Formats: sequence, C-alpha cells, structure tokens
Amino acid sequence: MENLSATERLLPDNEAQSSDSTNAFQPNLYHKPRQSLSLYLILSVLFVSLLLNTLFILCTLRSYDIDRSPILDSIRISYKTVVFDATLFGNSIYRQDASEEVHNAWQDLGLLTTHIIPEEDVKRVGFSTGMVKRRAADGGGFVAQMEVFHQLHCLDTLRQGLYYNYNYYHENRQGVWGRSDAVVRKHMGHCLDLLRLQLQCTADIGLIGLMWVNATGTPVEIAKFTGEHQCRDFDAIREWAFANDVKGYIEVREGDEVADKFP
Ligand SMILES: *[C@@H]1O[C@H](CO)[C@@H](O)[C@H](O)[C@H]1NC(C)=O
Repeated sequence: MENLSATERLLPDNEAQSSDSTNAFQPNLYHKPRQSLSLYLILSVLFVSLLLNTLFILCTLRSYDIDRSPILDSIRISYKTVVFDATLFGNSIYRQDASEEVHNAWQDLGLLTTHIIPEEDVKRVGFSTGMVKRRAADGGGFVAQMEVFHQLHCLDTLRQGLYYNYNYYHENRQGVWGRSDAVVRKHMGHCLDLLRLQLQCTADIGLIGLMWVNATGTPVEIAKFTGEHQCRDFDAIREWAFANDVKGYIEVREGDEVADKFP
C-alpha cells in the first residue's frame, strides 16, 4: 500500500503546476517524509534494475561479438574501400580451372594457418576449459583457427567439387579427397551450410545496380558486380596469420571434455 501511494503521488505532483490538486496532498504533511522515502526506494530499485539490465545486455552482446578475438590485441583491424573484382567474365586466379597454380593461390590466402590461444583467454574467446590444447610440454594453449580462414577453406573445398574441377581433385586424392565419397559429401554439405550461415550473419545490405552493355547491337542490362565495399584489411589479417602460424602436438589432457560421438 505504501508503494502504491508513492506511485500515485508521482502523478498529482506533476499535475500540480496546472491544477489545484496540490492541496489534496499538501495538508498531509505528516506522511510526506515516509512517502519521499518510498519514492527514493523505488527510484533506487529502478536505478539498480536499469544498471543490471544494461550490464546484462552488454554481456549478451559481448558473447555474440566476433570482435572479442585476442588477435585484436596484436593487430589493429582497419577498414578500407575495396572494389570487388568479380565481373561475370573476369578471370581471377581463384576461379580458373584446377591446377597446381590455382591450388597454391588458394592456399596462399592462409587457409591452413592455426594459432595458439593462451589458456587464460578461455572465457574471452568463448571456449570451454576442456577443449583441445597444445601438448603441455610445449607450453599448452588452445589450438585455434580464425573463422575467416576456415570459411575460405570451405569455399575452396566447394570449388574443388565443381563439376569442371571434380575429376582433377578426385583423382589427386589430396586433402578432403583422400576420404571416402560419403565423407567428402559430408564435408561439402558442412561447407555449404557454414557459408550460408556466414552470409546471413554478416547480411551485406550493400546494393547491386544494373548497367547497360551494348555488345550485340542491342543494349542489354547486366548486374554491375564491381561495387565498392568497406572491408576489413584482409591483407593485414593474412600477414598476421602467417607470422603467427603455429603448428604443434596435441594430447588428451586431464580434465579435457571428450564426446563419445560426432556432433
Ligand atoms: C548499340 O549498338 C548499335 C550497333 O553498334 C548501335 O547502332 C546503337 O546505336 C547502340 N545503341 C546504344 C543505345 O548505344
């Protein structure tokens, strides 16, 4: 009841300027200090609740923030304007027919780079303590790869499975192609879904316009795929990845989580 009267009081006080309802509350001076006290109490509760909510929201945001990677401590991620060189009839090395040179170009993007994350950063990177670590004798630390390189690896894997590249890779039996066809298929499905999720995750809302091309005597419209994009400086990230590429040995350690089947 005390709370209710204090809440009620908020309204008449505000209305006091424009009406004579002030008197309805003024005479009861005896109750005033008690009502102010509960008002303070309510305001304090509101303030604390607001504070806790804000903290909660910040923490929630943080847990979905890809930018919590400790790699941020080592490189300043800068953005730059990149004109996508991805015209329909373009011919970048990444889209040419399967060959040693094309394979190397993809590898050179940094697909196989891996890093060691200090064990004290477990929470920060969203890992759990039972995940795979480097052999203790070699200094420990979580074995990790930057998502971007796994995603590029996935794109490369899908590229290898394209109908015009398939025979080359299937016969060479390198990488994923060394596995059974059923496992290769699982890899392809995994990569397809992963890239779908990533594209939805970053949800690029930049716009693609159309341009006229008069190559045949009759102008036709085609999409202009060479728009400008604000991009993270991939070259800087790639350089960091190669400079900090660590390979090593792993072992099951005391306290590690070990699942009993494939997820
Ligand atoms: C397209 O090309 C044809 C043949 O060169 C030319 O006659 C025509 O004027 C061109 N149309 C436009 C809109 O440029």
